[in-house]
Parts: sequence; structure tokens; C-alpha cells
Amino acid sequence: MKDQLLEAAKAVLLQNWTGHFTKPAPNLYPHQWNWDAGFIAIGYAHFDLDKAEQELRSLFKGQWSNGMLPQIVFGTETNARYFPGPDFWWTHLAKAATQEPQTSGISMPPVHGFALWRIYQIAKKQDPKRARAFLEEMFPKVLKSHQYFYEFRDPQQEGLVYIRHPWEGGTDNSPIWDSVLEKIDPTQLDIPPYERKDLQNPEAAAHRPSDLDYDRYVHLVDVFRKNKYDEQAIYEECPFLIQDPLFNGALVWSNECLIKAGQELGEPVNELIHWNELTIFSLNEKLWDEERGIYNAYDLKNDQLIPVHTNSGLMPMIGEVPTQEQAEQMLLMLEGADFCGSSENIYSCPTYSLQAEDVNYKRYWRGPVWINMNWLLYHGLLRYDMEDMAAKVKRDSLELIGQYGFYEYFDPRKDKSENLACGTNQFSWTAALCIDFLMET
Ligand code: SER
Repeated sequence: MKDQLLEAAKAVLLQNWTGHFTKPAPNLYPHQWNWDAGFIAIGYAHFDLDKAEQELRSLFKGQWSNGMLPQIVFGTETNARYFPGPDFWWTHLAKAATQEPQTSGISMPPVHGFALWRIYQIAKKQDPKRARAFLEEMFPKVLKSHQYFYEFRDPQQEGLVYIRHPWEGGTDNSPIWDSVLEKIDPTQLDIPPYERKDLQNPEAAAHRPSDLDYDRYVHLVDVFRKNKYDEQAIYEECPFLIQDPLFNGALVWSNECLIKAGQELGEPVNELIHWNELTIFSLNEKLWDEERGIYNAYDLKNDQLIPVHTNSGLMPMIGEVPTQEQAEQMLLMLEGADFCGSSENIYSCPTYSLQAEDVNYKRYWRGPVWINMNWLLYHGLLRYDMEDMAAKVKRDSLELIGQYGFYEYFDPRKDKSENLACGTNQFSWTAALCIDFLMET
């Protein structure tokens, strides 16, 4: 059974491999995506080091000269059905953008530091010299992407990086963004004309973000392009500036892995240590919700906390941001009615609190289980020796994949009368992280 699943997972990656990078899914996502590439490279490392390395090399070809690692590096398939394509971003107006390959004009959660370190650990057992050479090659590039965040996305120098678009957070229509997006009224704005392509995908169409969401996403892109990607000008005008616990938690884990990598390579790491201490301090000082036992997001534009409970609020565990005591409170939250971790009737871990009135079991980032979030949560729980819960998260992930296939996301209810598979099939990071779960010793 294990071998069968492993072979099937490898086949998904190989089927989505373009010769240069791996599509997140064959139809819905035809280019290269930033955090997808990080997770995908981890999967390849277990059976094809060449592709693991090429995946990251290809992504970093799109890195801007200011260090920003774009959310999408566009492939050369000219008939690719995806909106927004390369022409919509007007990145030719951005001084720092690469023109070849073309890219989008936003970034994504910084997973590449921990992906690089994990690949190094796996590769070292196969070919230590090669593993070190790749670590050496990638270390300065990943470091530069962190430099960009601390230089351009942390205006108060508190170590908390803001995102300026929901796509940048990776969790596109997360309820965390609602209160901020609601302030953007498309009827009062001149929204550039556009045509969605995602709804042409029959499997995924039903649970994608709404048209109103898309009007707002497009408006934000318009703010960026009108400001020619000048970060200061965007900061002043952009209505969406959010410090997200998933994003900043990933940054901490990646900082930490870069510190280890730098030490291994004999590179200076003082700056990384300083950034990391500051980010950990501020996550606890500013975003920790003592009453609920979870991290909130912060709306920088309107200067207020966003006390909406999604499993993004549990993610700082991956960087060991909470103390053991805080983590135990988080475990209670995870096991309780919000995320139902101790219930046998719910697959861990829903992305949105099941207590929320507007939870939606099938709608993209507003309830379903996503395998990358489970993989992160699993690693976070292990840092606190919460092995039972970690084992459940892993078991549930593998059971969902084993029963339904390599889907993009899953309805969390254990209900035999429902098809729990959601979104697009043959989804690369589901396959890649399934491989990592199965291969881990
Ligand atoms: N997830 C986005 C989409 O659905 C892009 O990052 O198109």
C-alpha cells in the first residue's frame, strides 16, 4: 500500500514536470508557483535530486534584483489558460523585475529556507559533495529574498513582514482577509477589464474564490502597476497590508534553517540571527492571543488585530515561536471545537474554525484541509513533542490522499455520502508532501 501510494505520488510529479519546472496542476495552474516549488522540490529530493535542484533553480531565475522572489514565474506555454498572465502585471515598469523569465509582481510565503535545508539533509545521505554544492549555490539567493522582506516589508522595523495581496499570503480567500477586503468597494473603483480563466476548469470551478474577490484582487494589482512597483509608494496607497502568522511563522523557520546553513558553510549569520529574534519577539508581543491560545493577523492599514481563527494562527509552531506553555494552549485549541483535532469524525486539520458561522467545508481556503498546512502543522507539533496529535495529522493526510487521490484540498468531514475531494486533481504539492511523509525516517 505504501509503495503503491509512493509510486503514484512520483508519477504525479513526473507528469506535471515541464522539462524545467513542475506545474502545480496540469490545467488550473500552468506556470511555476513560488511556495509550490519549495514543497515540490522536497518531494523530488527523495528520488530525483536533479529535478529537486532544477525546480529551485528555475524559480530563482525569476528573482528580482531587489531580492523579491515572485509568486509566479511564467512558463513559455503561450496558450496557457491562466489569469492573470504575464501581460497583466506590467512588470516591465518595475526597475527590479526580471524581464526574462516574466513574473508576477508579488511574492509568497518564504518556505525556501526550510525547503533548502530539508533537501540538504536528504541529499547528504545520497551524495554529500553535491548536497553541499547546491546548498552553497542557493544560500545567497534565499538570503537575498529574506533581505527583501526585512528591507521593504517591515516599515516599523519590528521584524513582522506584511503582505500586500491575498495571493501573496498563499491562502487566497482566507477569512483573515475579509475585513480588509470588504473596505474595497469595486462599484466605486475603475477596475481594469479582465477575464477569469479558472472557472473554465470544471473540477475546480465550484469552490474557487468569488467574482467579488477577483475584482478586489485585480484592483490591488492595479495599485501596484500604477505605482510601478515602488514599494514605498505602494505602502502609502495600498489598502491591503497584513502581517500574517503563517507568513511570518514560515519566515522564522526559514531564517532558522538559513542560520544552520550559513554556519555549515562558514558564512556570516549575525544579521539572520538578529532578524529572527526580532520576528519571534514581535509575533509573541503583537500577534499572540492569550485568551484563545492562537496567533492573530494584524491589519497594518487600519491598525488593528484580526481575531479570525484559521489554522494559519497555529503555524508559528514550525519556527518554535511559542513557548512550551503557549504551545500547550495551542494544542487545546487544535483539539477542541474549532479544529476538532481530537474528534474521530473530522479529518485534521480544517483551515478555518468549524465554530465560525461562515465556515465552508468545500470552499478553497475557507474550511477544507490542505496538505501543505497539515505538513507544516505536523512539523510544528513535533517540535513540542506532541507526537499523538502529529501522528493524527499525518495519518489523516495519508488517508485522505489514499482514499481520494492527489487532490488540491479536501472536505474535512468524515462523511461517506460526500465526495471529500475538492479542487483540481493531480496536484503537485499534495504528491510531493505525501512522498515526504512516507519517506521520512
Ligand atoms: N492560488 C492562486 C490562484 O488560484 C494564485 O496564487 O490562481
